[in-house]
Amino acid sequence: MAEHYFSADPSVPFRRQPVEAQVWGHRLLLDSGSGVFAQGRVDVGTAVLFRQTTPPEPGRYLDLGCGYGVIGIALAVAVPGSVVRAVDVNERAVLLTRDNAAALGIADRVRASTPEQVPDDERYDEIWSNPPIRVGKEALHGLLLRWLPRLAPGGRAVLVVGRNLGADSLQRWLAEQGHPTVRLSSAKGFRVLEVRPVPPTTPPPPVNEG
Ligand SMILES: C[S@@+](CC[C@H](N)C(=O)[O-])C[C@H]1O[C@@H](n2cnc3c(N)ncnc32)[C@H](O)[C@@H]1O
Repeated sequence: MAEHYFSADPSVPFRRQPVEAQVWGHRLLLDSGSGVFAQGRVDVGTAVLFRQTTPPEPGRYLDLGCGYGVIGIALAVAVPGSVVRAVDVNERAVLLTRDNAAALGIADRVRASTPEQVPDDERYDEIWSNPPIRVGKEALHGLLLRWLPRLAPGGRAVLVVGRNLGADSLQRWLAEQGHPTVRLSSAKGFRVLEVRPVPPTTPPPPVNEG
């Protein structure tokens, strides 16, 4: 059965389940939970994302679709001085991410919230995401068009997407939207894509009629 993660079903009792993750040389003990993506485990795509990358330079990051928070928390732990916004439409995911950050003593650098709670002027040096492909192409495109414009100039987004789930067509679509996009690596049926902001258009030079 396809895992659904649109919102927490309030009729499902909330049960926490511990997860141990090894990320970039750090051992993270986190709580996952029922009704939240990847209960009791680190998702294969997320694990590929970690294995195929190294921690970025200190900065402001967005964990887009944070689930129980493993990506954003790994970034905050591996990069002291970084500040992370973690967003998810699933309120249980937001709660787990907040609690996981608090348990690791990094609640001051990991702000978890629903998308609506993010201030309009917040910008990011990097967006990291195992995006919700199963919401459908239109919703996924809408999600990326909503958040990619928040990348600071010179920033980037790092996305992990299953090849069978349309990684290559997503890469083409991003390029068509004006985002320079390259495949950083490919492993276990997943692509890791690096997406750059749309370059600013430079006005044509003035015509010298003298
Ligand atoms: C593939 S899961 C990844 C979860 C987590 N980052 C991980 O690696 O385990 C995608 C997440 O995106 C969330 N999501 C779905 N639609 C969203 C939206 N419009 N805005 C933010 N998050 C969304 C889902 O609830 C889910 O937790």
